[in-house]
Amino acid sequence: MLNPDDHLNDPAFFATGAHYALFDRLREDDPVHWTTSPDGRGYWSVFRHAHVKAVLNDPLLFSSEREGVAPVVDAEMAAVVREAWGVGKHIATIDPPRHADYREVIAAPFLPKALSAGEARTRRLIGEIFDQLPAHGEIDLVSDLAVRIPMAVICDLLKLPAGDWAAMLDWGKMAIGGTDPEYQRGTAAETTAYGFRQLFDYSDGQAAQRRGCPWTDPLSLLANAAVKGQALTPAEIAHNAVQVILAGFETTRNAFSGGVLALLEHPAQMALLRAEPKLLRLAAEEFVRWSDPVISLMRTTTADTELGGKNIREGERVLLWFASANRDAEAFDRPYEFDVTRHPNVHLGFGAGPHFCLGGPLAKLEIRLAMEELLARYDGIEITGPVTRVHSTFVGGLKHLPVRLKPHLPRAVAG
Ligand code: HEM
Repeated sequence: MLNPDDHLNDPAFFATGAHYALFDRLREDDPVHWTTSPDGRGYWSVFRHAHVKAVLNDPLLFSSEREGVAPVVDAEMAAVVREAWGVGKHIATIDPPRHADYREVIAAPFLPKALSAGEARTRRLIGEIFDQLPAHGEIDLVSDLAVRIPMAVICDLLKLPAGDWAAMLDWGKMAIGGTDPEYQRGTAAETTAYGFRQLFDYSDGQAAQRRGCPWTDPLSLLANAAVKGQALTPAEIAHNAVQVILAGFETTRNAFSGGVLALLEHPAQMALLRAEPKLLRLAAEEFVRWSDPVISLMRTTTADTELGGKNIREGERVLLWFASANRDAEAFDRPYEFDVTRHPNVHLGFGAGPHFCLGGPLAKLEIRLAMEELLARYDGIEITGPVTRVHSTFVGGLKHLPVRLKPHLPRAVAG
């Protein structure tokens, strides 16, 4: 039997779905587990919901800024992420108290009030993507629908030209999914670096055009922002823009496609949603819990501390396994039951504490509207080929979901 650490460091393992059984065992036997890693430094793996939540709520002791938040455990990749992702320059990797100032710069367009005002437009954008699907209904639900919906929505929000989406999708896959052989150009680290570099240059160019512009989209807000009277540097602007773009589409695609697969595997839940589409608001939370778009995130300790009976020293890395926390029986009734009516649903899919996902309300809106559209347009959805998952310990989910969509038959005209 392999050492569990070999699995925890292996992106391919997370494409098998076998990680849930491993997590069940480790949550019980060694919930804060010292894990050896390819870079020789090792890190603490945290599996229980209560521990993951406690760490997220203590951002001064468990820093996002020291080494970033990506679960990077080999030295070549660590250097790439620090540089290419701009650790310390964008809100996900800035610690309090500085963090709040940066978050405030871009928060307004993501608040529920702003999103409600734009709901009709978001619905229309999503409808247009469905309109473009082939009439024969044979599609890859991931590439034809799940990736295109959040891409269209975030680019519309940032006022980025539709002609650039295809390139951005490719760069995004490389930046976030560099550990997956299907996306690679060279090594995983080279692929990640390339994806981030392209997105950075693109965002930098777009931001340059927005300086002095009165628009109120997040990119224009960044391009013209000052924090404590100091204008953001071009690097801060571009890194924050990349963060918003990537966070905008790489995670939501997984929650939507993972939600569709879950419904196909649980037909009674699908029938319930067809009968009561209002349940989609609750269901969106369960899609996120069930599909675990963010598998893990990292923190680094700023002082010696104790967690789950283990002594953790200053400067050690702590890896938070969200995919484990979201199946913890201490936090969820029937954690392995997919239940679109689950309430309360205390999943940590959007994180917790000051870095709690800024785009959560937008993601849930997109998922709800896209699911409404899918169920309203199609009567039958069947899987027609192998379902595959991204090789990643970070942002994971479906890579391919081939399906046949059967439209509703037109209603017979009475009379
Ligand atoms: C289902 C979809 C999504 C999931 C599962 C998700 C998950 C997360 C998680 C777990 C965090 C916390 C990071 C941390 O604690 O280090 C986060 C932060 C963030 N997310 Fe999302 N996210 C999603 C969609 C979005 C969307 C659509 C956007 C919009 C642009 C977005 C923007 C952000 C930003 C800007 C942060 C950083 C917030 C901060 O550090 O203050 N996310 N997200």
